[in-house]
Amino acid sequence: MLKPLEELVFFEIISYNSYKMNQKNASQGARDGRSLDTLVVHGATPFEPVTGAITTPIYQSSTFRHPGLEETTGFDYSRAVNPTRSELEKSLALIEGGKYSLAFSSGMGAISALIKLYEPGDHIIVSEDLYGGTFRLFNEYYSRYGFSFSWVDTSVPAKIEAALRPQTRALFVETPSNPMMKVTDIALCAQLIHGRGGRLIVDNTFLSPYFQNPLALGADIVVHSGTKYLAGHNDTLSGFLVHSDDALEEPLRAAQKSEGASLAPFDAWLVLRGLKTLALRMQRHEKNALRIAQWLREEPAVEKVFFTGFPDHPQYELTKRQARGCGGMISFYLRNPAHAPVILKNVSLVLFAESLGGVESLITYPVVQTHGAIPEAMRLSAGVNDRLMRLSVGIENADDIIADLDEALRRCV
Ligand SMILES: Cc1ncc(COP(=O)(O)O)c(C=O)c1O
Repeated sequence: MLKPLEELVFFEIISYNSYKMNQKNASQGARDGRSLDTLVVHGATPFEPVTGAITTPIYQSSTFRHPGLEETTGFDYSRAVNPTRSELEKSLALIEGGKYSLAFSSGMGAISALIKLYEPGDHIIVSEDLYGGTFRLFNEYYSRYGFSFSWVDTSVPAKIEAALRPQTRALFVETPSNPMMKVTDIALCAQLIHGRGGRLIVDNTFLSPYFQNPLALGADIVVHSGTKYLAGHNDTLSGFLVHSDDALEEPLRAAQKSEGASLAPFDAWLVLRGLKTLALRMQRHEKNALRIAQWLREEPAVEKVFFTGFPDHPQYELTKRQARGCGGMISFYLRNPAHAPVILKNVSLVLFAESLGGVESLITYPVVQTHGAIPEAMRLSAGVNDRLMRLSVGIENADDIIADLDEALRRCV
């Protein structure tokens, strides 16, 4: 028998809401009749019913008292479950359109946990143009334990088909890709891999659930580096897996608990706070990026700009079909590689730092930073050379960002 809402304490409310939510997910879709703009603000539990606090408390406790030997509150030890983290997980599931979500201490923690679904001997096809840390994890670590990986340009479906083997169990794609902004057809990939009994895993970090929902397009698991747009303020690391498969929830939870890369309560709270402004931030990131990408295109020192919002981007129509926006990431080739260090030295408002998706604009040099772990030949064939720069456009005034980049470019001549 369900207790009336007023009698429930906060953690019970969380599970009660999730129960209701999951019922609704199954029948009506995750959005529950509300727009994403609203969902991100209110999350899964709009207020804490015991005190009325409209912000989820930080349950900074490593362990929880048991009422008795056979009794449980649903919480025992924070590596396995913590109320602040649970609230975040439920909120992200709602926002991403999944039934379940699991929060990890970083994006890499999330990716490492999902590999526990696989066995030595399994083969996984992976986008060749993807975050260098993911490449390193697969290539330097999991390949040692008997997993095999094929690195493929997943924006070309024929190349995926050519890489399929009898042992292929998953297709792992990043779209748009990091850093070349190639777009992979999510629905088509789902068809291809499901036809072989495998799963489609999509790293949705670049667009965030505000602009793209891979589960709705047929993906089985969505990965996020929550460090980026979800948290949004360059102040915490986090990572997520989101899915809707009852059969996956238990093994993924077991991997999270056993490996121990669970998100800490304070970090979970920071992401919860960040999520509230996801819609506003994404709109502004995109608006600024549209302006800056156009400006960069006119710059004589810039040879080519990679941005999915350009109508002449090779997958512009696909982007319009599967996403609601093009996001805030831009990459570009300089004509002269000698200009790269000059720009990095002379930007001042735009910060020369790794990472992306925060309110501050960041510029990165992928060849030595985010993609430094990728062997040279592979990096070059993906287009990541010493003329490539990556810009994560922040939410500052676009004219100020342009003035700063302009000043740095002037130093090159
Ligand atoms: C697309 C993408 N996925 C995953 C990760 C890993 O996330 P984290 O740095 O939170 O471990 C990153 C990090 O830059 C990334 O850019």
